[in-house]
Amino acid sequence: MIVFPWFLLCFLLGPWLLITLYSRQLRTRNRQRRLSVLTRLGASPIENKRLVGFFHPFCNAGGGGERVLWTAIAALQRTEHDVVSVVYSGDVDASKIDIIAKVKARFDITLDPSALHFVFLQSRSMIEDSTWPRFTLLGQSFGSMYLAWEAMTKLIPDLYIDTMGYAFTFHIVSLLGRIPIGAYVHYPTISTDMLARVKSRKKWHTNTDAISTSAILSWGKLLYYRIFMYHYARSLRIARFLMVNSSWTKNHVDAILQHSDPLLELIHAVPPLLFLRLFIQNAGLTSAGIVYPPCDTREMAKFALEGRERIILSVAQFRPEKDHPAQLAAFERLLRAHPEYAETDTTGVKLVLLGGSRNAGDAARVEGLRLLAQELGIEDHVQFVVNASYPDMLKWLSRASIGLSTMVDEHFGINVVEFMAAGLIPVAHASGGPLKDIIVPFNGEPTGYHAGTPETFADVLHIALTLSPDQDLAMRRRARAWAVQKFSEAEFEKAWNASGWRSWLP
Ligand SMILES: *[C@@H]1O[C@H](CO)[C@@H](O)[C@H](O)[C@H]1NC(C)=O
Ligand SMILES: *[C@@H]1O[C@H](CO)[C@@H](O)[C@H](O)[C@H]1NC(C)=O
Ligand SMILES: *[C@@H]1O[C@H](CO)[C@@H](O)[C@H](O)[C@H]1NC(C)=O
Repeated sequence: MIVFPWFLLCFLLGPWLLITLYSRQLRTRNRQRRLSVLTRLGASPIENKRLVGFFHPFCNAGGGGERVLWTAIAALQRTEHDVVSVVYSGDVDASKIDIIAKVKARFDITLDPSALHFVFLQSRSMIEDSTWPRFTLLGQSFGSMYLAWEAMTKLIPDLYIDTMGYAFTFHIVSLLGRIPIGAYVHYPTISTDMLARVKSRKKWHTNTDAISTSAILSWGKLLYYRIFMYHYARSLRIARFLMVNSSWTKNHVDAILQHSDPLLELIHAVPPLLFLRLFIQNAGLTSAGIVYPPCDTREMAKFALEGRERIILSVAQFRPEKDHPAQLAAFERLLRAHPEYAETDTTGVKLVLLGGSRNAGDAARVEGLRLLAQELGIEDHVQFVVNASYPDMLKWLSRASIGLSTMVDEHFGINVVEFMAAGLIPVAHASGGPLKDIIVPFNGEPTGYHAGTPETFADVLHIALTLSPDQDLAMRRRARAWAVQKFSEAEFEKAWNASGWRSWLP
């Protein structure tokens, strides 16, 4: 009874004392570091400047996540003159000038070098897949904590925003830097779906007479996922604000924020695990705000809406999940139900499948689709456009009438946004982003069509092909106005503001 408090004290006070002392030392040194960064940038007056740190170790990759990062920073530079953006980058082979030039070339985003500082991190390999062939989730999470530690030893900002989905860094930043934290989440590291899937697989294993080793293995895997989920949820709850890129991601992140695991909670009430609960604050966040990524629709939004050819266009890489066979099946139904569309005169309709073929698997898929078109007897009305250049794709977008997308549960669907901006009438599978975020009514009126089976796809294609000229033009106008506005940079900036990030700047 007398021993117990000492035991507690050692376990709790010891680490607490060490971390507090270390954090104080880092923060003291940081004053000098911060001063020298601001002096080098020529910022004045220095005392008014605030550093917003963006954790984006792959900032030079040129993908969708990077467009979000640079659009956000460019908006800050335009509207917040007391903010200096700090990007934590692992691209040690590129200089600040290189990165800024690449952002200009790739995204046409102009960055002001005087309000931007890069902290280059040496240990990015800690978060690369190749470093962690097994237990990748866990390995990368530890790796990201190590990388965040490197980041905090180099410069502590006034506000930390993770834009690459490394939630485990929040612990390190909060313990060492003692600063507010926020994040833009593209994709949850682990989802409640994954957990449920493993759980149901476990049941299946134990219900069958499968050998016990596989039961133990899947039980172990479930435990691993469960512990991981518990800590992922705890990490996310450290954040003061969370932004997500779509309603799909919002559903998942919200479920994770509200995830509870009473058993693990109980286990973490006992030292030494209690440490994790005591020293890591819970900001009490229960939901994330949607901030749709900006899409560059400037070119396509100029295309004429009238005088379109009777072309149904699909723009999708030849990957299995895009479900091109469903497009051929729907088109075959359409031609069978309405033979006039198979004529070669002005009533004829053509299906164009445009997409990239990345490898032998994709190439084989294209061959398979050609064969399928022959079997269905529609090959004369179907055209394949493989590996088209961007300008060629734009040309097709400017000619076609209808944009077709058959992927099930697509998280977003940038191709559908592009159809609409380009003036096509979109027809997409009734699921995921196209259903919830993109093809939704604008001012109470439809902006396109959804379908599920080949029959319903054929039905809505027929409806879209037989709109009166007035209805047709109105629909194209609405679809374009909605897509251009909803996924514009201005809208992105507004939603970013609405996250409340500004109120966390000291
Ligand atoms: C959100 O991010 C995920 C993962 O990178 C991506 O698949 C999805 O298309 C993104 N959504 C939007 C709206 O860009
Ligand atoms: C398409 O591009 C990929 C790689 O860029 C290449 O391997 C493939 O052969 C190309 N296919 C065609 C049909 O041009
Ligand atoms: C976002 O907030 C800043 C001020 O913090 C303001 O200047 C800017 O206009 C806002 N952007 C939008 C699109 O509302």
